[in-house]
Amino acid sequence: MYDIIVKKRDGGELTKEEIKFFVDGYTKGDIPDYQASALTMAIYFQGMTADETATLTQAMVDSGETIDLSAIEGKKVDKHSTGGVGDKVTFIVGPMVASVGIPVAKMSGRGLGHTGGTLDKLESIKGLEIEMTKEKFIENVNTHKLAVAGQTGNLAPADKKLYALRDVTGTVNSLPLIAGSIMSKKIASGADSIVLDVKTGSGAFMKTLEDSEALAREMVNIGNNLGRHTVAVISDMNQPLGYEVGNANEIREAAEILQGKNVEDLRLLSLEIASHMAVLAEKFSSYEEAYQAIEANIENGKAFESLRTLIDAQGGDVAMIDELDKLPKASYEIEVTAEKDGFISAIDAESIGVAAMYLGAGRATKEDEINHGVGISLKKKIGDPVKAGEALVVLVSDDEQPDDSINKVKEAYTISNEKVEKPTLIHNIIK
Ligand code: URA
Repeated sequence: MYDIIVKKRDGGELTKEEIKFFVDGYTKGDIPDYQASALTMAIYFQGMTADETATLTQAMVDSGETIDLSAIEGKKVDKHSTGGVGDKVTFIVGPMVASVGIPVAKMSGRGLGHTGGTLDKLESIKGLEIEMTKEKFIENVNTHKLAVAGQTGNLAPADKKLYALRDVTGTVNSLPLIAGSIMSKKIASGADSIVLDVKTGSGAFMKTLEDSEALAREMVNIGNNLGRHTVAVISDMNQPLGYEVGNANEIREAAEILQGKNVEDLRLLSLEIASHMAVLAEKFSSYEEAYQAIEANIENGKAFESLRTLIDAQGGDVAMIDELDKLPKASYEIEVTAEKDGFISAIDAESIGVAAMYLGAGRATKEDEINHGVGISLKKKIGDPVKAGEALVVLVSDDEQPDDSINKVKEAYTISNEKVEKPTLIHNIIK
């Protein structure tokens, strides 16, 4: 291990054997934290070649269980978002892609965050069950083309251990380590191909377009190196996506998009991601053909029907989706208003997320309970004109006077005197 650390410190390229030796030894506990942190710090400064990064990723996949989806007929395409506020794209693209006959076997998590994870949001729907046996999961995908389940199994334990170490040693922010970490979990989840939604902007993990593109390139290279056709969409996260933030709030907005509502950014990004997924599944020969077929399935109701089928198959109350007023909703609606006339020039997505968490939409610690009925409805987005006293957002709250959230929302919005352009939504596609 000493020789490996010194080789990387001095800018050398590690062999496959050296990388595997490190990952295996560290996972088993044979290599101590101090040597692993010295190596990750050396990687932080010296980087890794594409071959090294692919080997590291494969070694982390091999450190634990992998999910075998071969019993599902057809090519399985997964999607992954690097995370943002108001990101309910999974609930939209899953049904869109399933509606054109492509199997979507979605494993998701809960996690800490401003709003719940995918599973928490889905649990806004009464009765919906996300724990199921592997057999049931596969049967549901084969029958209905779509299932969403909680992650089971010990996937990429080497990543879990290394990520925790990086977190406390200042080595999270290394492109090969981030890319390997994300891709190891995706690859262990069994998909044949992957569409990545890499967010960029103030509310994203990567704040600049340059960094987001570099991360995307790194992940696409890993995927393609390891035989998983991967495409990355770089999308804007300089404000929340869509208008709704929260758990039931986001499910409601996702259902509305599938029913044909034109929430511009959310609909466009969902169609973009779903179309790339459909092409990777080899169902369509071109992006345009896929896009048209999916758009048609929104208009003819098939995409919404796919969401209904998913909910029904997993024991959820479909009436809550047919009549969206039946979704959980907290007791009070509180407007946060503009203090002056002008144009919205910035909405700090992170602060909106924190405001939602203060209402109870997310978890600050693992033990926290989610309140599915609280959330934030944005009334103004970047570029919109606003008058003093007009609502910027409506907080849906169980607390009559949620001062912390109100202050956070006020902090999030910037109003300028000059007219402001709407931000670009899709910055780049990396294949
Ligand atoms: N998310 C991950 O899963 N891993 C990283 O290293 C960073 C973000």
